[in-house]
Amino acid sequence: MSTWTAPTQASTRKKVTIHTLMEKKARGEKITFITAYDFPTAAIEDKVGIDIILVGDSLGMCVYGFDSTLPVTMDMMVNHSRAVRKGAPNCFVIGDMPYMSYQVSVEQAVANAGRLMQEAGVDGVKLEGGIEMVDRISAITKAGIPVMGHLGLTPQSVAMLGGFKAQGRDVSAAIKLIEDAKALEEAGCVSVLLEAIPAEVAQIITERARIPILSIGAGPYCDGQVLVVHDLLGFFGGHVAKFVKQYANMNEYIEKALLEYKADVENVAFPGPEHCYKISEEELAKLRKALEEN
Ligand code: KIV
Repeated sequence: MSTWTAPTQASTRKKVTIHTLMEKKARGEKITFITAYDFPTAAIEDKVGIDIILVGDSLGMCVYGFDSTLPVTMDMMVNHSRAVRKGAPNCFVIGDMPYMSYQVSVEQAVANAGRLMQEAGVDGVKLEGGIEMVDRISAITKAGIPVMGHLGLTPQSVAMLGGFKAQGRDVSAAIKLIEDAKALEEAGCVSVLLEAIPAEVAQIITERARIPILSIGAGPYCDGQVLVVHDLLGFFGGHVAKFVKQYANMNEYIEKALLEYKADVENVAFPGPEHCYKISEEELAKLRKALEEN
């Protein structure tokens, strides 16, 4: 790996802050938001000018191959967030708080949010839940840490929700979401992510909020959109959620490249002369002579 160089950084970009995001909402400009879990992906996202990167606990599935986000630990989140921060110095980087890092107590919530800030250098943290999380959000905010809320289909509570399905589809569920969003804003959230809820309900929440409201499967009226980068780039074959748009088929692309590499190695088509280091004829002759003499 000694000759590998990191992707070039976008050097002229201004750092995205909470103010940038608030100004975009005020101007009606959409906020761009994607997940990343590693340095090279983060560097490309920064280079193309993405506003927010979420180091999501979706890394449990995307990177570690778990069946859910529940086994993800604070150490995993800190390590991946640190790599993303390095790759994307100009994006607003959010570290996701994993399962059981904030549910147990307010103190643990503040300490773990603090780890993501102090050890990984993120710009803020995200946690799931509504009114029941107001005490955590307010304590983390008082510690000077920006918090993004997460409502709707909250994967850490999938057992309580009875599966991965859209939320807020009847009057009482929609009213609960609207009240939760208001409570999160009042508790100090700098932004709220809505996942898998009807577009019209998300529109009501977005119009009522002073903070940016972001969508994953919550329709076009929110202040911005996020997708999981592995979904967007088509890393996995098989089922994709209704709200995902695939912009590439990396699975096919990588498979094709790996098959070509395998065939080249088997047929000695790689490495070619251009991939080999040289020794001069003179040095080679000396080497042969030295070997004969020994
Ligand atoms: O962990 C994650 O990737 C998320 C998505 C909903 C954006 O929270």
